[in-house]
Amino acid sequence: MLDRDRREGDDVASMTSQMWNERYAASQAVWSITPNVWVEQVAADLPAGTALDLAAGEGRNALWLAERGWRATAVDFSAVALDRARTWAAQRLGPGADRLATVVADLLEYTPDAQFDLVLVVYLQLPADQRGTILRTAARAVAPGGHLLVVAHDSDNLAHGYGGPQDPAVLYTAEDVTADVAGLGLDVVRAEAVRRPVDTPAGPRHAIDVLAVFSRAVKAAAGRGRRTAAWGE
Ligand SMILES: C[S@@+](CC[C@H](N)C(=O)[O-])C[C@H]1O[C@@H](n2cnc3c(N)ncnc32)[C@H](O)[C@@H]1O
Repeated sequence: MLDRDRREGDDVASMTSQMWNERYAASQAVWSITPNVWVEQVAADLPAGTALDLAAGEGRNALWLAERGWRATAVDFSAVALDRARTWAAQRLGPGADRLATVVADLLEYTPDAQFDLVLVVYLQLPADQRGTILRTAARAVAPGGHLLVVAHDSDNLAHGYGGPQDPAVLYTAEDVTADVAGLGLDVVRAEAVRRPVDTPAGPRHAIDVLAVFSRAVKAAAGRGRRTAAWGE
């Protein structure tokens, strides 16, 4: 199967919701319908809970989580993409389709109304200031005991990897992600560049992705300090 995480020559930095809608409407499936390999790898070790998928597109990752018992909320500013996600949810989840909720919103202005056990941002390629705003929103949405997973086309992909956006302004590194979310109470689990095998018409290649995972510590049990004081009386 050909890699469809890649985009070549797109000026994704300036794509509006209307342009994304047109892009989604022009095709039955713009991205792969299977989950991203890093999402699969990281989430496989986590117990099902609540998930927030920011820039979810057609919802392949949120849907995969919902199929595994998660309650997933997919957010994107393309209504066309999220309509497709709901159609696929009805087909794949049947009566469990309500495990996928969708929210049409511009992430630059979006504030989640809850915290989640897993927050995903997968291949959101925007200039640094916009990326930082959205990744900080993502970080704040991680519940105690929860995780943030960021997957992206790495800056190094331009010179040494296959596919992906060709505008260096929308590429970034694991260090960029770590700096974006610094000071928001998350611990780094892993933050690195990883090689993703890609089947191409010219044979096997690899893409270089950012894979960054963060966790938020569980808060100390409420009331513990008061109990200790009582015992000391
Ligand atoms: C490359 S797609 C990735 C889709 C999905 N995460 C995946 O891996 O299949 C990027 C998505 O970001 C969305 N997007 C870009 N800028 C956005 C913004 N400011 N607010 C909400 N969604 C945005 C686009 O509509 C598009 O669906």
